[in-house]
Amino acid sequence: MESLAVIVLAAGLGKRMKSDLPKILHSLGGRPLISYPLGVCRILNPERVVVVVGHGADQVKATCNDQNVQWVNQAEQLGTGHAVKCTREVLDGFPGDLLILSGDVPFITEKSLSAFLGRHRDAKAAVSLLTAYVDRPTGYGRVLRDAEGKITRIVEEKDASGAEKKIKEVNAGIYAVSAKFLFSALDDLNNQNRQGEYYLPDIVRIAHRDGKTVGDLRVDDPREMLGVNTREELAMMERAMQEKINRKWMEAGVTLKDPQTTYIDAGVQIGKDTIIGPNTHLMGGTVVGERCRIDGNAYITNSRFGKESHLKFSVVIADSDVGEKAEIGPFSHLRPGTVLKNNVRVGNFVEVKNSTIGVGTKASHLTYIGDSTLGEETNIGAGTITCNYDGFEKHQTTIGDRVQIGSNTQLVAPVAVGDDAYVGAGSTITKDVPKGSLAISRAEQKHVKGWVQKFRDKHRKK
Ligand code: UD1
Ligand code: CA
Repeated sequence: MESLAVIVLAAGLGKRMKSDLPKILHSLGGRPLISYPLGVCRILNPERVVVVVGHGADQVKATCNDQNVQWVNQAEQLGTGHAVKCTREVLDGFPGDLLILSGDVPFITEKSLSAFLGRHRDAKAAVSLLTAYVDRPTGYGRVLRDAEGKITRIVEEKDASGAEKKIKEVNAGIYAVSAKFLFSALDDLNNQNRQGEYYLPDIVRIAHRDGKTVGDLRVDDPREMLGVNTREELAMMERAMQEKINRKWMEAGVTLKDPQTTYIDAGVQIGKDTIIGPNTHLMGGTVVGERCRIDGNAYITNSRFGKESHLKFSVVIADSDVGEKAEIGPFSHLRPGTVLKNNVRVGNFVEVKNSTIGVGTKASHLTYIGDSTLGEETNIGAGTITCNYDGFEKHQTTIGDRVQIGSNTQLVAPVAVGDDAYVGAGSTITKDVPKGSLAISRAEQKHVKGWVQKFRDKHRKK
């Protein structure tokens, strides 16, 4: 097997995005654009992966955090040809082929890349390019062929004549090229064109001029080579990505009641026979178990749900870990660091943050639980608040097993309530409650006999 190195071009700002963020860090399916070419090229087992960075280089490196990537800096963005030239410092003398990918072309599949490289090698081509027929070629480089159908050169949109602009076969921006030919051809490039840039596709013209073989493969599905250059294209790609992801989960046995309004990131996992209602967002590395129900209006980030959990209508959940058969919502907010064990019930207008709630414990209504540890089979009455913040520091509340916290209780942290304790409704608890006792801290109730009659008589006499 011949050696292979992959180059990913990612130094451009992406002017047409009108953004401070480098284009390839814009998110698609919950992942930065660059993660797609970096992921898909691994199928070819390249010996090396080299990424050319420039705009926001530090940010790009930090976001990717990929140990198996070599970074090359392109200080000034003088064009795609110049970008590849910058890899000479690490790839000079490389014995095999190079596969060049664009950081902004996320849909290319493993299947097409393998077929493309195979064809390049079978043809013993100096350079091969991936092409596609598209109805709207605007913006892409057009593929020019001679009478025999051989590719002679690529012409960029901005340099194309009226007739050339009508050509519907476009350059996908993906190349396979022998390293030896590439680096000699790059020395031949010039920037005598409308954009004053060194164009990588010009190596095709050079190969043709020198009588070398130019290979090509046309992708069957032109959507695979779509690039992201504008916000509008990004939105269109996001829709296409969502359709693809949703189809995958439906095929895997997940019911999506309204796929049009279901947004599932590429990194999400969902168990079979889970039913998902409209306007559900499952983001980041969220994992949903089997036979769960998500009624709808759910905004969920990096969270895990055990099997048969039920998220009732309208919940916001982030960085939380939920066990099996839990019931959450409607209108619950689980913030980072929430751990709900099996069979926990968190009801309407309940917020939980950085807290662990034990098996079978319920907080059904209007409650805030922050920086707390709750035991098993405990009941938290409506309107209970853990007062965890003194303006400077956060403090812990600990509640044991089988505890009954009466409604409208404030637990002023740091404080602990022992196992089997009861707290009377309306109490403000500032001292630890021993296990098995009743704590009550409200003023005793008095009755003033005949008070109402006297009060009314006084007013009626006026
Ligand atoms: C490029 C091709 C065009 C092709 C299209 C396919 C050129 C000159 N044109 O056009 O034929 O149809 O891709 O999507 O190559 N980059 C750098 N350094 C630079 C310039 C660009 O790293 O100096 C990177 C960009 O970050 C991007 C990629 O190269 O990831 C492609 O650049 P872009 O400006 O998007 O090229 P297109 O105009 O789309
Ligand atoms: Ca592009």
